[in-house]
Amino acid sequence: MVELTLPKNSRYKDVPGRVHKAAVGARNVKAFRIYRFDPSIGERPRIDTFEIDLDSCGPMVLDALLKIKNEVDSSLTFRRSCREGICGSCAMNISGKNSLACTTAIGECKGDVNIFPLPHMEVIKDLVPDLTNFYAQYASVKPWLQTRTPAPPDSERLQSKDDQEKIDGPSACILCACCSTSCPSYWWNSDRYLGPAALLASYRWIVDSRDEATGERLDMLEDPFRLYRCHTIMNCTEACPKDLNPAKAIAEIKKLMVERRH
Ligand code: SF4
Ligand code: SF4
Ligand code: FES
Repeated sequence: MVELTLPKNSRYKDVPGRVHKAAVGARNVKAFRIYRFDPSIGERPRIDTFEIDLDSCGPMVLDALLKIKNEVDSSLTFRRSCREGICGSCAMNISGKNSLACTTAIGECKGDVNIFPLPHMEVIKDLVPDLTNFYAQYASVKPWLQTRTPAPPDSERLQSKDDQEKIDGPSACILCACCSTSCPSYWWNSDRYLGPAALLASYRWIVDSRDEATGERLDMLEDPFRLYRCHTIMNCTEACPKDLNPAKAIAEIKKLMVERRH
């Protein structure tokens, strides 16, 4: 379960939210309680309630958000693109868990559906967090192939099936940030601790048999904060909607650090 704490400028308290009732005659009604905040107009954050008739709504939480935006309140702001768990943009906190709105069934949520932005991030508007630092951390691990030797003149840089399988899992990361924003170490030290998503990306290149910058990559992580703020709490792995295991990747990096000292 993710602990929900919002940045100082975006806390809601004692501010009555707006209630949008379901249409008269609706028989299969579910309430969506959604965090609303627009820092640009200086209003305090609030929780609005939208009663939705599930008989005229698609099955996923994203379907409900789109219905609300299209039919009730067009100012509701959230990110989405692919609608099938590939782009990572619809990550938010749904009923206490960081998840993708497009792959979370409304039926999975007991009672009212509480929807907040990803925890511990500055809020740009409503359900849209500021991911600038998150992306900068991703870029800082140089998530691309680095080589020192020239490529073979007549073929690609090949790797064995076993070596390819080592990067299969981590390559499936969609950078949704569900993991990093569920990590207590990241909440308190996101200025210096890289967090599970960036570290998983780093691991993906560290174990790539074609990459020739392994030493530099490990040197960059040899730091009390960047890597070692991970205390193996495992929230990250629990939160990942793609069933990846960033906690294990971080443990593997720590193991490689020890091995190279001997
Ligand atoms: S295992 Fe490490 S990265 Fe994952 S939640 Fe725990 S402290 Fe954060
Ligand atoms: S590891 Fe999983 S939770 Fe973390 S950014 Fe990648 S896909 Fe999202
Ligand atoms: S809309 Fe792309 S992952 Fe949900």
